[in-house]
This record gives sequence, structure tokens and C-alpha cells, in this order.
Amino acid sequence: MERIIIDGGYPLSGTISIGGAKNSAVALIPAALLADGMCTIKNVPNITDRDALFDIVKWLNCDIHQDGSVIKIDSSNLKNTLISQELSVKLRASYYFMGVLLSKYKHVEIYFPGGCNIGSRPIDLHLKGFKKMGAKVTKRGHKYTIDAEELHGAEINLDFASVGATINIMFASVLAEGTTIIKNAAKEVEIINIMDFLNKMGADITGAGTDTIVINGVKELHGTEIEVIPDRIEAGTYILMGALLGDNLKVEGIIPEHNEALFNKLSEMGVKYQIDGHSVILNKCEHLKPVDVKTLVYPGFPTDLGQPMSVLLTQAEGVCTMEETIWENRVGHYPYLQKMGADIKLDGLKATIKGKAKLKGTDINATDLRGGAALILAGLIAEGTTTISDIDYILRGYENIIHKLSNVGAKIKIEQI
Ligand code: UD1
Repeated sequence: MERIIIDGGYPLSGTISIGGAKNSAVALIPAALLADGMCTIKNVPNITDRDALFDIVKWLNCDIHQDGSVIKIDSSNLKNTLISQELSVKLRASYYFMGVLLSKYKHVEIYFPGGCNIGSRPIDLHLKGFKKMGAKVTKRGHKYTIDAEELHGAEINLDFASVGATINIMFASVLAEGTTIIKNAAKEVEIINIMDFLNKMGADITGAGTDTIVINGVKELHGTEIEVIPDRIEAGTYILMGALLGDNLKVEGIIPEHNEALFNKLSEMGVKYQIDGHSVILNKCEHLKPVDVKTLVYPGFPTDLGQPMSVLLTQAEGVCTMEETIWENRVGHYPYLQKMGADIKLDGLKATIKGKAKLKGTDINATDLRGGAALILAGLIAEGTTTISDIDYILRGYENIIHKLSNVGAKIKIEQI
């Protein structure tokens, strides 16, 4: 077991480079199995979710060659066997093998996916989409068997603009007979990255990034290469740290438009930052103005930044609110912020946060990936020493976080216990 120890209060200066987007990479890796041939994926982040996907790809008898952040996947010898429960529950994104294997083999056997405990996280919209395309879904316990004699195009109107369901239906339909139209599709930028990869393989997809995606099925897909876009959530997390502790902290390798909702809120709070091409320089804001924040689907304020943002709100001069609207249970970090001295009243998924609070270091636990990142932010600004346990959650999605923060002056380390 490992834990993170932070001595708080040190300014951050220097440069942090942002890696590839977790939520793109975890879809691009399964997508590579759709191609007949070798695919190269560049800028893959070094996170444990990546390793969990590698285990599934190898389980399916595909070859992976890794050279730093560049990976090559050869699916020539793919064997479409049941993906074990142990592998399926390691991460949420294991559900992408449903769409991919269904598309290619018209048959897939897999268990219910894992992932952070931030709500019930059903996959009904994915399955409804597959069924509309002609698939039959059988569920025994936690195991799903999905078969189709033929997958045909369909018009699929998503009840909610789910990221996972949008991508999974894209996967299922790329090799299907005819045209699939996804309406009320999720518009997250990662979906454009997935469309670009599939189109480079020979797929015929338009509309990713809008609420209507049209997929004309093709007969086969070939090997190609793609680069993972920068991680806007990792970027956002370090940008928030810059607003709290920056002394000319540079966050580089970002696409600023992808973080527009965050930058707008920071401006509202009075944070000064300078965007220059693909980087931004931040300085600590001494007098933060209070704001109300509500998480929404893209291009609204991202749910994945809600928890880190709540730490910034504890430092505003006045009363702020933070409301989560996407996940049912994305509030697990609040009791720990309270333990550190934050004045927070939680009413369901809406937190009323009164600042400016003086946070004090103590022993706390990461309850999920982004909640864990929020606790790191809190530890960095707190007086004294903060010890964070259950850090596996954090390592799932933030590459080299200890190294990146130490490099810019944070007093942070991992300790084996
Ligand atoms: C993805 C991201 C996650 C982010 C989320 C919302 C990945 C690997 N993860 O998760 O970081 O927080 O988008 O931006 O890309 N829902 C259903 N039925 C379904 C599917 C979803 O009811 O079949 C509900 C969920 O319970 C949740 C909401 O829809 O309340 C959003 O889920 P979704 O967009 O699917 O999230 P993920 O793709 O799992």
C-alpha cells in the first residue's frame, strides 16, 4: 500500500507538461482492435488505467509494443474470448470492448465494468443502442453476452448525452450494414479524437463534437496512427493549482479552448492568467471572488473538474456553491475538506462553501480519482502535513503526478506502508 505525504504552503513555479487525455486513450486502445493490422497510438498517458487495458488487449491475444508514450497494437491474432471479471472490473472503460468486439465478431462476452464509485453508473444506454442495431443482450449475474446475426444501421436517440454510450455505439456501427445516426450524442472533445482515429482506419463518420453523429458502415478497417489529444482534466487540475499557489506556474501542452468553461469561471473569480498558444501562465490570486458553479455536459463546466474546483472555492472571500448534476455520488471528498477546516454545507449534491478557510493538514482518504486530486490540491495549500491514503484512485488517471508537482516546488512524496 502507498500513501501521499504533502507539506503544504509552498509556491509552485516552473513548467508542468500535460499528457494525453485519459478519456481518449481508454477508448482509442480498444478501438485499435477494430483494425485489421497494426495501429500506432501516440501520446498515451502513463496511468494505471492504461495498464489495465493492456492486460485485456493481451488477454485477447493481441500484441502490444510500447516505447514511452507511443504504443503499437497488432490485432492480427485476436481471439475473441470471454473477458474475465477480474479484468473487466479494473476500470470503467472495459465496456468499450463490448462495442468493438460486437462490431468485429457479432459476439462478445464480458462482465459489468468497474471504475470509481461516483454513482450507480449503469450501461443501459449502451445496451439499448446495440439492441436497436439488431443485437441480443443476455445477462447472467454480472456477465453479459451480446450477439447479433447482423448489425444494421439505426437511428438512436440517447436519453442522456452519455460519453461512453456515444463512443460505444460509434464502435458498434462502424462495420455495420447501413447508416447509424446518434442523436443527442455527447459532444466531448475526446469523441472527435475517436472519430478521427476511426476515419483514418477507413470508417465513414461525421458530426463528432456536435449532438448528431452519422456513421455509414464500411466493410473493413485498416491499421493507422493517431495522437491522443491533451488531457483537459489533468490540465484543469494543474491550472487550479496555479490559481491557488502559482508563482508564474506554466502549464504547457494544452488546447485552451477545451478548458474554456474553467477559464471563464477563473476570470469571474478574478484569477489572472496569460494564455499563449498551447500554454498558460498562472499566478496565485490573493483575493478570489465568490462564484456559483454547476457541472454540465460539454461544453459546460466538466464534472471531472468539479471536485478540484471545490478546493479553489474554499479560498474565495464569501459564499460559493458547487453543484454536481452528472453523477449521483461525486461528493465523497467533502467530509475530508471539512476535516481540514473548510466550511462546507452539503445538501444532496449541492455544496455551499464559505471562505476564506484556513485549511490544516491531517490524515485523509481518496474516495475516487477526481476527489483524490481535490485532496492533493487541499494538501498543497494546507498548513502542515497532509497524508492521503487509498491513492490508487489518483494513479489511475494522473500520470507522474508526484514527479510533475515536485518539479515545480511542491513538497510531495509517495510513501510505502
Ligand atoms: C465519461 C468519463 C468520465 C466523465 C463522464 C461525464 C470516460 C472513461 N469517463 O464517463 O470521466 O465523468 O464521461 O463527462 O470517458 N448513464 C446512464 N446510462 C448509461 C450511461 C450513462 O444512465 O448507459 C448516466 C450515468 O449514470 C451518468 C451520466 O449518464 O449519470 C453520464 O455518464 P457518461 O457520460 O456515460 O459517463 P462515462 O462515459 O461513463
